[in-house]
Amino acid sequence: AVRGRTRSPTPETRFPRVTTIPDPRTHGPGLFLFRKCRYRCISIMATKLRKAIIPAAGYGTRFLPLTKTIPKEIVPVMDKPIIHYIVEEALGSGIEEIIIVTNNTKDLLRSYLIDIPEFKSHLRFINQTGPYGSATPIKNAQQFIGDEPFVVLLGDELFLADVPRPAQLMEAFEKTRSPVLGVIETDDDGTSRYGIVDPHDPKPESIFRLFDFFEKPGPENAPSRLASIGSYLLTPDIFEAIERIQPAANGEYQLTDAFRILMEKRPFFGCQLKGDYYDVGTKLGWLEANIAMAMRDPEMQKALHDDLRNR
Ligand code: G1P
Repeated sequence: AVRGRTRSPTPETRFPRVTTIPDPRTHGPGLFLFRKCRYRCISIMATKLRKAIIPAAGYGTRFLPLTKTIPKEIVPVMDKPIIHYIVEEALGSGIEEIIIVTNNTKDLLRSYLIDIPEFKSHLRFINQTGPYGSATPIKNAQQFIGDEPFVVLLGDELFLADVPRPAQLMEAFEKTRSPVLGVIETDDDGTSRYGIVDPHDPKPESIFRLFDFFEKPGPENAPSRLASIGSYLLTPDIFEAIERIQPAANGEYQLTDAFRILMEKRPFFGCQLKGDYYDVGTKLGWLEANIAMAMRDPEMQKALHDDLRNR
C-alpha cells in the first residue's frame, strides 16, 4: 500500500496483478518513461497493431457435459479446434504476440497450441485472476500491452472472410485513430444475444461513429440492429475506463461498460465487418459453422448436399 493511505477496494485489488516473468520488450526503461507521459504522448502512440488478447478462461456451460473435461476453445469445427482458427486469424493479420488469458484447468488448450510450430513463438499464456466478467482478462493482460493499440478476439466465435477481422479493424483504425468495434447486422433475436451499438444514423457508412452501446437490450430497447461481435480494436485508455466500471446486476465486471465510459470521453467507432460469422459457443452456431466449412470442401460439398436433401 502507498504510505499514508489505507488500502480500499481499489481497482488494484479488484483486478490483481498477474505474476509472470517480465518481458523486456514491455518493461524496458524507455517504455517506463513513455508510460509516465501516457496522456501527453497519446498522439504518438504506436499505431501498428502487434498484439491480441484472446480471453479463454470461460467454463463453456452451453457445451456441457463435453466442457466438463474439454475446454470449450478446443471443441472442433471440422478438423481444427475453434481457437486454431482464431489464432490463424490474428497471425494472418500480422499480429506478432497473442496473449491467451486462461486458467490452469485448461492444460489441453495450452498443449494443443504450443504444439503447432507456426503458433508457438507468438503465444503468451497468463492465468485469469480477479472478479467474474469480461473486463477481467483484459485488465490481466494490461502489463503485456503497454502503450499500443491491441485487438481482442473472443474465444468462441468463427469468422470466415477473405480479409481477417483484425486487418479489417486496423484499416478502420488507420482512418480514425480511435477504438473500433467490429459489427454485423442482426435481427430482433440478435438484440437479446449481442451487444448493440447506437450509431444515431439508421443507415451508417461502413466505418461510423458510435454514441452508445447496450448489452443485450432486446428488440424494444435496441437503438439499431447492428451487433458488436467479439472483435474489438482498443487503445490503452480502455484500462483506465475498466478501473471505473461498476459491477453489473449479475455482479460481473463487463468490458462493454468500459466502452460506454470511454465513448463519453473520446470518439469511438464501429466497422461493418465483411465475412460470415458463426457463434460457435452455441450448438446451432457450431453446427452451422461445421456445415459451412464442409461446403467449402469440393469433395464433401456434394455428399453433404445429397445427405441433407434426403433427410
Ligand atoms: C459478449 C459481449 C457482447 C457480444 C458477444 C458476441 O457476450 O458481451 O457484447 O455481442 O460477446 O459474441 P457473451 O456472448 O459473452 O454473453
